[in-house]
Amino acid sequence: MGHDSALRHTAFLLLVPLLVSVYYAQANPGPRLIHSIFSFGNSYADTGNFVKLAAPVFPVIPFSNLPYGETFFGHPTGRASNGRIVMDFIAEEFGLPLVPPILGEENNFTHGVNFAVVGATALDLAYFHEKNITSVPPFNSSLSVQLDWFQNLKPTLCSTPQGCRDFFRGSLFFMGEFGGNDYTFIMAAGKTLRLVYVQDVIQAISEGVEQVVKEGGRYVVVPGQPPMGCIPIILTLYASTNKTHYDRRGCLIKYNALARYHNRLLVGAVYRLRIKYPAAKIVYGDYYTPVIEFLNEPARYGFSASSRLHVCCGAGGPYNYNMTAACGLPGVSACDNPATHINWDGIHLTESAYRLIATGWLLGPLRTPAPILKAMSGSLDLKTSSSIL
Ligand SMILES: *[C@@H]1O[C@H](CO)[C@@H](O)[C@H](O)[C@H]1NC(C)=O
Ligand SMILES: *[C@@H]1O[C@H](CO)[C@@H](O)[C@H](O)[C@H]1NC(C)=O
Ligand SMILES: *[C@@H]1O[C@H](CO)[C@@H](O)[C@H](O)[C@H]1NC(C)=O
Ligand SMILES: *[C@@H]1O[C@H](CO)[C@@H](O)[C@H](O)[C@H]1NC(C)=O
Ligand SMILES: *[C@@H]1O[C@H](CO)[C@@H](O)[C@H](O)[C@H]1NC(C)=O
Repeated sequence: MGHDSALRHTAFLLLVPLLVSVYYAQANPGPRLIHSIFSFGNSYADTGNFVKLAAPVFPVIPFSNLPYGETFFGHPTGRASNGRIVMDFIAEEFGLPLVPPILGEENNFTHGVNFAVVGATALDLAYFHEKNITSVPPFNSSLSVQLDWFQNLKPTLCSTPQGCRDFFRGSLFFMGEFGGNDYTFIMAAGKTLRLVYVQDVIQAISEGVEQVVKEGGRYVVVPGQPPMGCIPIILTLYASTNKTHYDRRGCLIKYNALARYHNRLLVGAVYRLRIKYPAAKIVYGDYYTPVIEFLNEPARYGFSASSRLHVCCGAGGPYNYNMTAACGLPGVSACDNPATHINWDGIHLTESAYRLIATGWLLGPLRTPAPILKAMSGSLDLKTSSSIL
């Protein structure tokens, strides 16, 4: 059964490049090519910025160590996974290089660049400081700061306002995921997670999308929250003895409700932006539904049922997650078969999970709303929110 479905998925994934070209041929007389990818986000999107910022500051950086990167790259790259992340698979589908980090060795950003930093928030540091929230990320790398980096880089990519708009018209932008860290820091400070925080996060993301659209950006993917209540770090930190706090999957209901609330507001914001900028194809990237589907039917997606909420790279505990003995630290090792795990290190997903999610965002096999290719072909479906409500 598991073998069968793994085969089915392999067949499906092999078909994707073909489908992409067919899709283009049908939908676009004169192929509408994406020549570059620009990414803003946190550890779900970072491809090497955090490890560069952290190297002179911290003696130990887990993401700089194996087994991070072991499955695809064979060495750590600064990605918070065993291999490629969602954006890498999407770059591959468009025949583009894996998006280089702004702080890495690559300095030719003709094909795009990644501004994402592990720990980055949608809201500025000042927002947290004003509220006496002191457990904030170590680097000033919030969304607005990443947008400043983008503005500073712009003159190297294009020179006139019209030239820049023409250039970014052929770019794919990723605006997120943002918000997970904001909520984590607010909760870690012992604050009640008031709805206004979520609204402020959504406002910041929405303004970020608006900024890149005003630069000429036409294709924007806006990823939402994964089911936070199913993430092992949340399950460990906020473990409850009260069984009614868990759903039938073993996830914490309250934190999934937070993620769903965030996603509902985000889908609404995307909808409003589409109306305001009808030429732009703004797409919601659903991390929530796929992870729930993996947990509901692990074998169908090639995951082992026994490792559903169980971290691949960890050091014991009910979810194989221990914050003080985290993946990448000495003595902590990865499981033998990461491909059968959904969660890699307690916070981030495995390459196999990211691959399936990327495929869903491109083509929609996981019932993900408004897949990227559909949006590009012009047949954007506005009935996007139902599957996440
Ligand atoms: C950057 O890369 C592009 C294509 O990969 C190439 O055409 C261009 O000449 C390069 N620019 C520089 C300054 O090397
Ligand atoms: C922040 O903390 C300071 C000092 O403890 C206190 O005076 C101030 O009222 C607090 N502000 C908020 C918004 O909680
Ligand atoms: C973060 O960087 C921005 C510039 O991008 C700056 O305006 C802001 O003051 C910085 N914030 C802190 C807390 O250092
Ligand atoms: C368990 O949680 C539910 C819902 O929050 C609450 O109504 C109930 O009183 C709790 N039970 C115990 C034993 O604390
Ligand atoms: C977590 O790891 C620390 C350091 O190795 C260890 O002392 C502690 O017992 C572990 N906790 C659990 C719950 O396994």
